[in-house]
Amino acid sequence: MTNLHNTPSTKHSDSEEMYFANEKAVYDFYLQDKTNNQVIIFEGVVYNVKEYMPTHPGGGDLIEALLGKNIEADFEEREHTKSARKLFKTFPVVGQVSNSEI
Ligand code: HEM
Repeated sequence: MTNLHNTPSTKHSDSEEMYFANEKAVYDFYLQDKTNNQVIIFEGVVYNVKEYMPTHPGGGDLIEALLGKNIEADFEEREHTKSARKLFKTFPVVGQVSNSEI
């Protein structure tokens, strides 16, 4: 079968990745369980930042205010270092969101 939608590779180690039709669907997911679904969107990927948030050098509240949302603009605005960017690789991936910004 042809892969039409750049389907993410399935992860078998953790849980299965979710597919979100748009960014609002990610926000709804956060609202469903604000305690556990502490997610943000970065470059099309939905990450769980629950564990990371309290350790953020800029303060957890800055990220908390953006839970369920796309943080790219705010992240880039603060001119984070490359090592900050690399941290995303260490976050649990919840799923992928299709590009809804048109
Ligand atoms: C999960 C996403 C984020 C990660 C992994 C992250 C990571 C980091 C890291 C590692 C630093 C230390 C400096 C550096 O290496 O650049 C930092 C600093 C900072 N971050 Fe973030 N950040 C995130 C999201 C945000 C957001 C959304 C904002 C703003 C709304 C923000 C605002 C700041 C500020 C203001 C500092 C400077 C703190 C200081 O030097 O006192 N960050 N962040």
